[in-house]
Formats: sequence, structure tokens, C-alpha cells
Amino acid sequence: MSSYNEEPEVNPPKPPSRKEMSRRQFLTYTLGGATAFMGAGVLLPMTRFAVDPILHKRGEGDFIKVAEVSQITDVPQEFNFELKQQDGWYASTATLTAWIRKDEGGNIYALSPICKHLGCTVGWNNDKAFPDEYHCPCHGARYTKLGKQLAVAAKPLDQYKTKIEGGWVYLGDIVPNTEANKEA
Ligand code: FES
Repeated sequence: MSSYNEEPEVNPPKPPSRKEMSRRQFLTYTLGGATAFMGAGVLLPMTRFAVDPILHKRGEGDFIKVAEVSQITDVPQEFNFELKQQDGWYASTATLTAWIRKDEGGNIYALSPICKHLGCTVGWNNDKAFPDEYHCPCHGARYTKLGKQLAVAAKPLDQYKTKIEGGWVYLGDIVPNTEANKEA
């Protein structure tokens, strides 16, 4: 039996039924998924368009065909070649120079002409007082045929990575000279 003092029974709110919940979820997922899909469709091409030139390799690791092997002698010769560069959005072409020679064993070496003192350009056999050497006209640095420093500069001339293929000499990145210090 119930008395008058008893609190009236309060029914707690009914939890939403399984059917209502799944309909709401379905709408949420569908709209969210469609929005994300459309957003990605717009943003991804834009992002790629903006970032691609920055990620694009700038010619590093590439080799460029420079001279026929048959042209190379034991006397260093000057060869000029072009390097296409991409710096962000800016495309340019640089003209580079290499002094290429071969040793008694037929191995081919290519030296960079950039003086290791302050960056002027060296030439081969261009100072009568010091024949058969590289000479820098700026402050008188001198280098042997292999590029070893003899005066003024503190380091040997850098060299290009070389690759021989199909009778041609290909040049790659400029790297520290590994041959110069073999000289006595
Ligand atoms: S830059 Fe070559 S000697 Fe100074």
C-alpha cells in the first residue's frame, strides 16, 4: 500500500533508442566524410602546387655530358657546360667550368676552377713564372696538376664526380679533392 507522504515516482528520461542514435550517427558521419573529402580535393592540389618546387631536386646527384673521352689528354683542358637549376620557383642556367685530364692509367679527373682562397677562377699554365701549374690571378695562389695547393690557398681545388659512359665524360656534384693529397 502506498501512503500520501510517499514521493511521486519520477520516471527517468528514456535513453534514445538504438534506431535514433544510429540515424544521427549516420548523418554525422556522412556529412563529415563528404566535407573532408571535398576539402581534401581542394587542398591537396593547392598544397602540392605550393610545395612542389621546394621539394624538387635542384640538380643534385645529376650527371651532365661534358666531353668525349677521346678528347682528354694528360694535360688539363678547360671545358664549359651548362647546369639547369631550380631554386623554389626560380629556374636558371649556370655555366660551369671544369679542367679535365687523365692520368697515366687512363683515369679521368675533373677539377673545379674555383680558387680555395677567396673564390676567384684559376687557370692552367697561365703564369710563365710557374709553368704547368694552376694559378689564381687574384692573390697568386698556385696548385699542382692534381689540384694540391702550393701557395696562398689552404686547401686543394675541389673536384667533380665523374662518370664515363658510351665514350663520354659526365660530370656530377663538386666534392672535396681526394687525389691531391696523394702527391708527395
Ligand atoms: S682568390 Fe685566388 S688567390 Fe685569392
